[in-house]
Amino acid sequence: MSERLPDPALVVLVGASGSGKSTWARDRYRAEEVVSSDALRGVVGSGPHDLDASADAFALLETIVAARLGRGLTTVVDTLGLEPERRRAWLAAGRAAGLPAVAVLLATPDGECRRRNAARDRPVPAPVLAAQLTRVRAVADELVDEGWDVVREVTGPEPPAPTTPAAAPATAPDRRTSAGLEVVLQVSRFPWGEDPSAWLRAVALAADRAGFAGLALMDHLVQIPQVGRAWDPIPEPWVTLGHLAALDTSLTLGTLVTPASFRPAGIVAKHAATLDVLSGGRAFVGVGAGWWEREHLGFGLPFPSDRERLDLLESGIETMRALWGPGTRAYDGRRVSLPETTAYPRPVGPLPVIVGGGGERRTLRIAARLGDAVNVRFDPATFDHKVAVLRGHCREVGRDPSDVALTVLDLPVVGRDRDDVWARVERLRGRTAAAAYARRTHAGTVADHRERYADLAARGVSTVFVSLHDLAGPDDVEALAGLTR
Ligand code: CTP
Ligand code: MG
Repeated sequence: MSERLPDPALVVLVGASGSGKSTWARDRYRAEEVVSSDALRGVVGSGPHDLDASADAFALLETIVAARLGRGLTTVVDTLGLEPERRRAWLAAGRAAGLPAVAVLLATPDGECRRRNAARDRPVPAPVLAAQLTRVRAVADELVDEGWDVVREVTGPEPPAPTTPAAAPATAPDRRTSAGLEVVLQVSRFPWGEDPSAWLRAVALAADRAGFAGLALMDHLVQIPQVGRAWDPIPEPWVTLGHLAALDTSLTLGTLVTPASFRPAGIVAKHAATLDVLSGGRAFVGVGAGWWEREHLGFGLPFPSDRERLDLLESGIETMRALWGPGTRAYDGRRVSLPETTAYPRPVGPLPVIVGGGGERRTLRIAARLGDAVNVRFDPATFDHKVAVLRGHCREVGRDPSDVALTVLDLPVVGRDRDDVWARVERLRGRTAAAAYARRTHAGTVADHRERYADLAARGVSTVFVSLHDLAGPDDVEALAGLTR
């Protein structure tokens, strides 16, 4: 299958009548994304073939193309595309909008174009088609000189862009995707209606069926503004995870992330060890410094300075590890001293600690020293840099960098198909411009995100925590099954 085209992008179609331009566009783009001179002739004239309406139709087309490009939205220009001046103007407008410019040449064999043309209700006169076909051959070279970012030549039928694959088999023994990473569902909103327990169980069972490696919960006392309203329910995660531990799934269970400022670290160690035992060794614990002052103050918790919270994070991991180790002897560590480490039950096995946050001076250093993994919000522009900083800290503290796994938190918009993706962007974007919101959330289909995750795997990411802004229930989770393949 041919390479995926950039998106968003300016896409200019080029080809003779009947070469299949409109069909190609219809198979890949939403109707609103395709700006067609024929369709606009039908809008301002008597129909798509009303040549008297051409000037008006093209004036409209230029207005629409300019408006869409100005908003950074994908625009597919469906005309014959044979006039170099028009193509150059669109190319310049695409560049000005900062969008990649794609020319798609429908190089369908002449005989096939003639055959399709003849079969149409209103065929183009044979000499006109012949002139177009001659012109198309010259255009192939012109496109190369014009400087398009991508020139795609389509000679035969291509398979349409893949949409959501069917659900994964119920019992996936290995929970890694074919690209080699694990996908964990982070549940951050709880529209559970009248039966919270049933909703939570259904979501977890759906995640298991869909092949997710695990389920993570945020640890907040008040729903955060990035996700919902302050009066939306947000359950205490350790209690909730204990509830889910009783289900017959192979999901790992843990927090992403527990703020060091909420509970004394020994108590978190106790929660996590208990969860590990009750779940048969499936617990993990994400820890962070905590950041939201409001929830601390509202619950009567101190909110110490950044530096003190980072100290708490560092000493907290040390405390947890001391309490999870074998035996009961006294612990005398770098920041923590305990007169004994009598803590039963012990976790079933090594209990992974994921350090959340990308702070380069302290957080990543703490992760390098004490973490099994680090978790950062994925940003293509900064990710490799953060990894380099982490690796540098590892070397300085004498830790093998490959012992600290890279995990990312991904907050995507995922839709069944292109129409659904854009309906969701429209619903979720608030006052953010649609193109910017779509870019930030990598808005796309399951197939798009799967491809992106394969790229993350190639950059060394071992686990993606995926959190949906519009997760309503188990059906939404099952629809993500293709992500875990
Ligand atoms: N068609 C086909 N197989 C394809 C592509 C197109 O049989 N792979 C048929 C379409 O069903 C249509 C005709 O060929 O009946 C012309 O296809 P269309 O996409 O409309 O061609 P365009 O290049 O858009 O033609 P025009 O310039 O006239 O708009
Ligand atoms: Mg057409």
